[in-house]
Amino acid sequence: MTARLQSAATASSDRRRRADRLLAAALRRARPFAIAAMALPGAWLVWQWGRLALGLPHALGPNPQEWTHIFTGRWAIGLLIATLSLTPTRQLTGLVAPLLYRRMLGLAAFFYALMHIVNYVVLDQFFAWHEIARDIAKRPYILAGLAAFLVLVPLAATSTRAAVRRLGARRWQALHRLAYLALALASLHYLLQMKGLEPRPLVHAGLAGLVLGLRPLLAGRRMNRKRRR
Ligand code: HEM
Repeated sequence: MTARLQSAATASSDRRRRADRLLAAALRRARPFAIAAMALPGAWLVWQWGRLALGLPHALGPNPQEWTHIFTGRWAIGLLIATLSLTPTRQLTGLVAPLLYRRMLGLAAFFYALMHIVNYVVLDQFFAWHEIARDIAKRPYILAGLAAFLVLVPLAATSTRAAVRRLGARRWQALHRLAYLALALASLHYLLQMKGLEPRPLVHAGLAGLVLGLRPLLAGRRMNRKRRR
């Protein structure tokens, strides 16, 4: 590589490192606002249910349980896709700073999936465990949703720094690769509900497919680069 190309490459990676430091500082400062922004839809939903319980006008429509399924389900899968898009973003841009929000986004996705399941078990099925068991056996989309949630539970439970230390980085990373399985199952849960060709589940599945597909592709590219050096 000529000296000029070398110095151009060094200059551009210096620029990227500077941009990354600035972005990291900005993201750290914005963290409380990001947490508030992620919690806001959930808080608004609880507030609407509060209004419903008090017999006040609310925005949950004629079927509040159904409305809540859709609202919490969409936030859960949207945040899960956002969480898993951070690694390909880093691989494509070289920017590490966005990874600062990975745990927060992952926990927010789990929080909305939990609200989703509470809505199903408590507000929709009123703890009718036999009915729930029959529903899981009868509806494949519920089974896929349950499987997605059961994969998310250990990931949320081991999202603390103490858990990383306890498990060790290698085992922690291996466990958290299951997040891709959770996304695949959540996408299947969404697709299996489709009545005819509905754009929204297809778009979500497309984005999930992109995030799932990019990772091995970019990892392979990085390996090839390393081998060529
Ligand atoms: C035990 C686990 C779960 C159960 C019982 C469950 C149940 C449901 C139900 C009953 C619906 C509404 C279906 C309808 O419209 O009639 C639904 C929709 C949905 N759920 Fe789940 N779910 C579970 C887990 C999950 C998880 C883990 C995610 C995402 C991470 C998720 C994402 C969604 C989405 C995106 C929708 C569709 C929203 C729309 O119609 O646009 N669900 N779920």
